[in-house]
Amino acid sequence: MDIKALIFDLDGVLVDTAKYHYLAWKRLAEELGFFFSQENNERLKGVSRVRSLEILLEVGGLQFDEEAKTKLATKKNNWYVDYILKMTPDEILPGVINFIKEAKNQGLKTAIGSASKNAKTILERTDLLKYFDAIIDGNKVSTAKPDPEVFLLAAAELGVKPDECIVFEDAEAGVEAALNGKMRVVGIGSEKNLGHAHLVIPGFENASLASFLKLAI
Ligand code: BG6
Ligand code: MG
Repeated sequence: MDIKALIFDLDGVLVDTAKYHYLAWKRLAEELGFFFSQENNERLKGVSRVRSLEILLEVGGLQFDEEAKTKLATKKNNWYVDYILKMTPDEILPGVINFIKEAKNQGLKTAIGSASKNAKTILERTDLLKYFDAIIDGNKVSTAKPDPEVFLLAAAELGVKPDECIVFEDAEAGVEAALNGKMRVVGIGSEKNLGHAHLVIPGFENASLASFLKLAI
């Protein structure tokens, strides 16, 4: 089946926002009286905001009711939004723009498939919005990755079939989501945690679109 579309996760694939998530979660942990390590932050990649808070509270050994958890998540998000509002196009990861331009020149469609409810803000601040034909983010889905909903919605909005798509993902849950959606998936990062992907690359610098288009499902 010929590839007609590329679907990109946003955080960790096109931009490095994990550092901002970390600063905001760490500040929340400090307010709650414990230290949240960078190592633990790795566990939040690709995970929804609510689930991220639950993991953080597990680390701190704390429990809150739903109302208090909503307040904590909002507090963290306000700090996070302060950071991403200051983002610039300089923060787009190396090789990304050239890769997307090449894909568009070859007639491929492009979409964002992100868990983040802040995706639009990040895409606007970094001037990436114009490169995508569809944006499916945390505001449009009801089930989180590894459920394939986000990627299936992206394919539907682009008018292509799942097996005509390649997904680019940096998180284990995202790779699983793409596989669950019967899509081809390229992992961005290391073999260690993304080994289930059809191919793993360190980033888009020197990435070969031609070799991805040949990936078998
Ligand atoms: C994902 C990030 O893209 O979005 C996660 O990898 C984050 O770390 C999730 O928790 C939700 O993001 P937001 O911006 O809606 O809090
Ligand atoms: Mg990601």
